Amino acid sequence: MPTSRQWLLNGHPRGRGIEDGDFVLAEKEVSAPGDGEILLKTLYLGFDPAQKGWMENIADYVAPMAIGDVMRGSGISEVVESRHPGFAAGDLIMGSTGWTEWHVSDGTGLVKIDTALPPTAMLSVLGTTGVTAYCGLFKVARPVAGDTVLVSGAAGATGSVVGQLAKIAGCRVVGIAGGEDKCRWLVDEAGYDAAIDYKAGDVRRQIRDHCPGGVDVIFDNVGGAILNDMLGEIATGARIAICGGISRYETGSLPAGPQNYFNLVFRRGTMAGFIVLDWAAEFPAIRKRLEGFVQDGRLTYREDVQQGFENAPATLKRLFSGQNRGKQLLQL
Ligand SMILES: NC(=O)c1ccc[n+]([C@@H]2O[C@H](COP(=O)([O-])OP(=O)(O)OC[C@H]3O[C@@H](n4cnc5c(N)ncnc54)[C@H](OP(=O)(O)O)[C@@H]3O)[C@@H](O)[C@H]2O)c1
Repeated sequence: MPTSRQWLLNGHPRGRGIEDGDFVLAEKEVSAPGDGEILLKTLYLGFDPAQKGWMENIADYVAPMAIGDVMRGSGISEVVESRHPGFAAGDLIMGSTGWTEWHVSDGTGLVKIDTALPPTAMLSVLGTTGVTAYCGLFKVARPVAGDTVLVSGAAGATGSVVGQLAKIAGCRVVGIAGGEDKCRWLVDEAGYDAAIDYKAGDVRRQIRDHCPGGVDVIFDNVGGAILNDMLGEIATGARIAICGGISRYETGSLPAGPQNYFNLVFRRGTMAGFIVLDWAAEFPAIRKRLEGFVQDGRLTYREDVQQGFENAPATLKRLFSGQNRGKQLLQL
């Protein structure tokens, strides 16, 4: 049986950025699969800003992580040996593989990859970020045709899908992202009507310029000062879906409260957070819809594929410096 390299958790990065010392590389002998088990070789890992929250143990919707645990994360694996009736050697699966080169599983929580798109789509446009975009937009924010939809973290894996789905729903869509090239991509490739570069300053004024009638729907991935600026420009009856708070990660364990929240009263707005796992039963049907949008050319997606298992910690860090262009992946 193979020896597997694994990245183990070695620190809880609360109130600071992720450091190299938060992980330690270890090796483990992999045992042979028993009855009802499969041997899996990891091909790709997928990265999500939420992984930092899991390392910090501040989120209570997932089990806490202890020092010495294999770093939690999703991936795509190939079944190399099967003693499980539901899987055959050569099958590709997507699931919570963790940061390990090989592992043995009883199949719980694994999804067999069955898509006309390249398999990595199961970690990107058809993966958690794609279904998060779909659920947050259509089940929480509920846009109607003609709405102005404003998305933060717009060029990322989740945000880029949100804007395109809102366009399909007949909305006018404005995105907020960091830097000129991301903003250009939003308008030229992802079909956003306009893009705001938050690094160019005065975000509130830029929102006012691009959304003169106010913002009907906000899909927020970042929180903090950008959320506050967005709340300052909401229209009457605005709906705000809180998806993520990536701006908090470097500064403290809890995000700052938005001063402009009282605009929800003046504008009769509603703001709701969500966890996508609450719609897990619907994921297969949502994936089919998203796949159809990609196939008929209405939904485009980007994957940023780094190389080499040894680079897993550095690849996670890319999300917090805005280096990723689309869904952050690592090919082993
Ligand atoms: N609620 C749920 O169920 C759920 C499910 C999945 C994901 N999420 C959340 O959705 C959010 C987006 O995740 P993703 O996987 O799609 O990541 P992503 O947007 O592909 O990557 C993260 C992006 O965040 C931006 N960013 C980093 N630091 C920032 C800061 N200080 N201020 C503003 N923006 C910053 C960067 O873009 P710029 O260069 O534009 O700054 C970076 O590229 C995350 O917060 C994630 O945890 C929530």
